[in-house]
Amino acid sequence: MKGVVFTEFLDFVSGTLGADVADDVIDEAAVPNGGAYTAVGTYPHTEMQALVAALSRRTGRPAPELLSLFGRHLCRRFSVKYPEFFRAQTTLFDFLDSVDGHIHGEVHKLYPDAELPVFRLARRGTDAIDLDYASCRPLEALAEGMIHAAADHYGEPVAIATSRVAEAAGSFVRFSIRHAA
Ligand code: HEM
Repeated sequence: MKGVVFTEFLDFVSGTLGADVADDVIDEAAVPNGGAYTAVGTYPHTEMQALVAALSRRTGRPAPELLSLFGRHLCRRFSVKYPEFFRAQTTLFDFLDSVDGHIHGEVHKLYPDAELPVFRLARRGTDAIDLDYASCRPLEALAEGMIHAAADHYGEPVAIATSRVAEAAGSFVRFSIRHAA
């Protein structure tokens, strides 16, 4: 997993709960190098799981809830760091379509070692889509938070229903996303 995800996670923890909590979480997760991540480095994604689990113990909040909150933070940060990806689309659904078709492709060109999920989007009329998320990492709560932050960015609030679909070719998570009234 790219270091930018780790540096943003630690910024998220410091920014919301304070630098002391971020330090405690690093200590408690016992990650190598004392949590000294560089944005362009690559680290085992199990270290992210250890950090989230430590934060969950520290706060008493479930790990998926924390991952979803972090997903909102991460997407907001991406909108500041890479505004061109957001400017390139005018609607939430077009933006979400561009994540797999364009954005993550550009990420992969820059960082061939990036481990990116696969998203498939199907339109369900004008007000709804199904966005299927496939990854060998269990980060659907992170994706859900990112989708909500993107919805805020475009001023298009949505309701998201999440289901797990098992098919012969493999299983994936389906986000059924609908514009909220
Ligand atoms: C400008 C926008 C975006 C940029 C620059 C970006 C970039 C990245 C990068 C660098 C990673 C780390 C890859 C690795 O760990 O090696 C990543 C992972 C990920 N991205 Fe994006 N991303 C963007 C938008 C989104 C959006 C809107 C979603 C949700 C719909 C999303 C979902 C994810 C998820 C869930 C992962 C974790 C890897 C996994 O699940 O397997 N990304 N992205």
